[in-house]
Amino acid sequence: MKVLGIETSCDETAAAVVEDGRKLISNVVNSQIDIHAVYGGVVPEVAARSHIEVVNAVVREAVKGAEGWEEIDAIAVTYRPGLLGSLLVGTLAARTYAALKKKPLYLVDHIEGHIYANFIEDERGLAAPEFPLLALVVSGGHTQLILMRGHGDFEIIGTTRDDAVGEVFDKVAKMIGLPYPGGPAIGKAALSGDRGKFKLPKPKVDKPYDFSFSGLKTAVLRAVQKEVGVGIDFPSGGLAERLSEEQVWDFAASFEKTAVGYLVDKLCAAYEEFAPKSVVIAGGVSANRYLREEITRRLPCSVDYAVMELCTDNAAMIASAGYFHVLNGSPCDPYEVEIG
Ligand code: KG4
Ligand code: ZN
Repeated sequence: MKVLGIETSCDETAAAVVEDGRKLISNVVNSQIDIHAVYGGVVPEVAARSHIEVVNAVVREAVKGAEGWEEIDAIAVTYRPGLLGSLLVGTLAARTYAALKKKPLYLVDHIEGHIYANFIEDERGLAAPEFPLLALVVSGGHTQLILMRGHGDFEIIGTTRDDAVGEVFDKVAKMIGLPYPGGPAIGKAALSGDRGKFKLPKPKVDKPYDFSFSGLKTAVLRAVQKEVGVGIDFPSGGLAERLSEEQVWDFAASFEKTAVGYLVDKLCAAYEEFAPKSVVIAGGVSANRYLREEITRRLPCSVDYAVMELCTDNAAMIASAGYFHVLNGSPCDPYEVEIG
């Protein structure tokens, strides 16, 4: 069974076709990174407008890669969470295609989709993850530990109290003068830095699997202000120009070490308690190499990491999740879709 996935929740317009939830047939991603980079972050209205301009072409290309609409058995679309204007474009496109081409329509949660990126086969021919499955979700909008006992069965065992980890990567990057998106830029700069140069705290929260990142962001701000010799009232926007290249590398490395160490501490503790059969990581920050190295080093089980292009936003993960909705759920009425 072939499912067409459509994803427009943030700044990527994506469509993909996946067979039986695991075999990637076509995968098209139109990234808006260049459009938003000039603003240093995603501008919601600009994102929605850009989705409108390209969504039909992106869907057409994905369907063409699967040899036409006759081959498509169902459509799956991201309906939450995300930027409302952006979600509206993808869901409206999916509803229109479902009605016109007479295909059943399924609604997929974006975070669920990120987890399903780990079900897609690649050239390594990996086996599908087994249940119970423990997922560490690390994206620009979410930081969660999720336990899945079967398809569609999700228990959130931990979540962030404030910022998401990807958001903090992006904000710290901006503070030290690295380009948007900050996550990959921090990862690259950290390779040249000294991870032990600046001591940063791991925030404490009362629940064992919850996270908090806002204190870490402030700790980096204070450390940078101290390093360049200004007071705590000095605006964060003026700090980057006072840092040398070496200082930027050291801040990137020290921040990455602390943030990743914190994530892996929680993942290891949850692994001990819930004894899952498999562990996956999901969301944009799961593309981070140092995070992967630390999980491999510290977790007492092996983890098969998804290929990098399936970690950040894409529609193949939505099509994969959609396949399991087809097997276990019922389609929605394309005239009655609510987003957000
Ligand atoms: O999952 P995603 O593509 O979009 C959301 O659903 O939010 O995640 C985007 C986030 C951004 O914060 C970006 O900086 C981060 O993922 N990211 C990374 C890396 N690649 C993307 N963070 C750390 N290291 C990376 N290599
Ligand atoms: Zn995402």
